[in-house]
Amino acid sequence: MYAALKSIASYIPTKCVSNHDFEKILDTSDEWIIERTGISTRYFALDGEDTSDLGAKAGALAIERAGLKPSDIDLILVGTLSPDFLGMPSTACLVARKLGLSNCPAFDITAACTGFIYLLATAKAFVESGIYKKVLIIGAEKISKILDFSDRSTCVLFGDGAGAAVISTTDDPKKSILDVHISGDGNFSSLLQTPISSLKNDAKQCLQMRGNEVFKIAVKTLVTDVENIMQKNNITSKDVTYFIPHQANLRIIKAVGERLSFQKEQIILSVQKYGNTSAASIPMAMNDVYESGKLKNGDLMVLDAIGGGLTWGSALVYFDGN
Ligand code: UT7
Repeated sequence: MYAALKSIASYIPTKCVSNHDFEKILDTSDEWIIERTGISTRYFALDGEDTSDLGAKAGALAIERAGLKPSDIDLILVGTLSPDFLGMPSTACLVARKLGLSNCPAFDITAACTGFIYLLATAKAFVESGIYKKVLIIGAEKISKILDFSDRSTCVLFGDGAGAAVISTTDDPKKSILDVHISGDGNFSSLLQTPISSLKNDAKQCLQMRGNEVFKIAVKTLVTDVENIMQKNNITSKDVTYFIPHQANLRIIKAVGERLSFQKEQIILSVQKYGNTSAASIPMAMNDVYESGKLKNGDLMVLDAIGGGLTWGSALVYFDGN
């Protein structure tokens, strides 16, 4: 028995924020942001709308697309760096409540932008060990609430959103989550952090990133990580339908994609529209391909991410949805 990705869905908040909106409050420009990051717009959650609200909406759609009811789900996992509450309750428990579930194990995973890969690894382990059969995984973020809007080097980069998938069983390895690799190195923890243990609106408590240093580590690590997982599984870039990397920066994605010999049509981009939505970025990008009608059952995807921790990881996933 293998674990398989049975559905994909996302929820995009309604408030669109353009680079021009930042020009009004910061010493920045549309040209700089596009040239250095590729980003044109991002979406922010509304006041009164939190990470679990976004996650529950994406989760409900993923369950429906898998042909299931919320009560069929036997584990909920949420990846987030912007939980509703610090510590407790977990965002996953709040999502479970919003899906109408009152007896379902649920917990959060903190792996920042690598969240979706860590979710896949965890769900795969639970399903293939036979412990759970239907796992809902959700990457959900309301990063706007922890941004320092006076720090032009970070606040223009991030967006809010959620992406979700149902992981269940298959007996066909060609329909499975073929392999997942996750790793991390806490020696680089200070490069990307939300330093104080509270989510109040104080600059010192906001997301901080030494972007230029992360950039250099990102390109090298992402390339090596994908090369390793593809070699281990005897997969070449020609066998792959889509390369869906974490969407942090267009220049990183293009550099990594080229070094891995992926063609333009194979490389999925959504950073221009959504900015960096951390744990939600890969499932949001995957959902765009799905909703455009271009993700077919049996397509092989290579996923790849790096983020705070530092954490990183990659995955080879056949799509087993309809
Ligand atoms: O998701 C987790 C992983 N995260 C990443 O992978 C992000 C990796 N890093 C990046 O994407 C890029 O490093 C950034 C987009 C964050 C920054 O781009 P960069 O090309 O590395 O720029 P930089 O940090 O070296 O800054 C260059 C200049 C600086 O000015 P000086 O010191 O050269 O005068 C910055 O102050 O650009 C300035 N700058 C800006 N200018 C206009 C920084 N942010 C802005 C801005 N508008 N928003």
